[in-house]
Amino acid sequence: MKRFFIFIFSLVIISHQIKSQINGRDGKLLAPTPPMGWMSWNFFADKINEKDLMEMADAMLSSGMAKAGYNYIFIDDGWQGGRDNKNNMIADPQKFPSGIKALAKYMHDRGLKLGIYSDAAQLTCAGYTASLGFEEQDAKTFANWDIDYLKYDYCNAPEDVETAKARYKKMADALRKSGREIAMGICEWGPRKPWLWGAEVGGQLWRTTYDIRDKWKRKTTETWGDGILDILDINAGLHAYAGPGHWNDADMLIAGLYGKKGPSGDGGGTGCTDVEYQTQFSLWAMMNSPLYATNDLRRMNEATRKILLNEEIIELNQDALGKQAVRKIHNDSINVFVKPLANGDVALAILNRSDAAQTFSINFSALGLPDKYELRDLWLHKKTGSGTQWKGSIAPHETKVFRLLMQEK
Ligand code: GAL
Repeated sequence: MKRFFIFIFSLVIISHQIKSQINGRDGKLLAPTPPMGWMSWNFFADKINEKDLMEMADAMLSSGMAKAGYNYIFIDDGWQGGRDNKNNMIADPQKFPSGIKALAKYMHDRGLKLGIYSDAAQLTCAGYTASLGFEEQDAKTFANWDIDYLKYDYCNAPEDVETAKARYKKMADALRKSGREIAMGICEWGPRKPWLWGAEVGGQLWRTTYDIRDKWKRKTTETWGDGILDILDINAGLHAYAGPGHWNDADMLIAGLYGKKGPSGDGGGTGCTDVEYQTQFSLWAMMNSPLYATNDLRRMNEATRKILLNEEIIELNQDALGKQAVRKIHNDSINVFVKPLANGDVALAILNRSDAAQTFSINFSALGLPDKYELRDLWLHKKTGSGTQWKGSIAPHETKVFRLLMQEK
């Protein structure tokens, strides 16, 4: 009995410590819901500049995305111009002639936030100046520039988990001491299982996989290059580790890329259909992954707009309960995900993984939902039925998403 109490007591202490690591200064969570925005890497790579980023922010506002919740512009790798004679990091003066502080002001003046990128080694993945050994100095620089978020990568760093934990903690502590609230996204891609220690060292989110490519699924002949299904199959099992303030990050949304060049086009990323992009968006929302678009927001077609701006799907992602969906049924043709919501409703997503249309029928009781529900289809934006089951046809690679509103016990 005594041992049991000691065990419970230790759990309370550990959870308190984790909480204090991911909170901001006033004790509130830094990322109470998954961050949303636009990230520069998967389409532009390091070919970024302040003009494009400002235009992207303008497009985020004029397209309605900002109103729908996308409020971050995340600068990824390639902004760095080395260090000055006092070892302060500087931005590439050609790409960012007005400097990062001015860019942050541009974002803040429009109600947006600015994220930046560095790496826990001497050089980043693309070979630019990184932060190892300069954590406190760089954190102060970022704070001085009014940065709101740091994506902290792990290229060129040792493989063992203890070093990774120490390097991430060092930067998280430095950010905490920097004088500004800056959230940190861990990006070591999954090999060291960051979902087990990410919150403890001070990260608000952690990538669970390698980079997403613009494809549905990796072919058996391909040795690398993960698509939507490959990433889904890793991230879906990690629901226990996500919750308000600490999220599993399944990498960027590829909607609207259509196989255009850029990092998403490497590794067999020849493009997806709109149905496949709709599936990614639905499932990333259900899994509480951060939602960051990476397509050129200035040139979006109607189909991409409809996907990224589906506010009923976004609501699932941003739901205050912060529960990542659980995959209740998993076979080669059908996957079913269930996500409880703060107001007592339940979100249900049904994915047809196969290459042929499927007629599928499901009793809600088999999902642990014993009641009668009214069903709202969140892609058709209307009520489509009620009762204790759903039966219908799903196109290849399509995901149906429903909100189940309880009718009676
Ligand atoms: C990778 C990371 C990508 C991008 C890239 C930049 O390690 O997973 O999302 O940040 O580095 O070089």
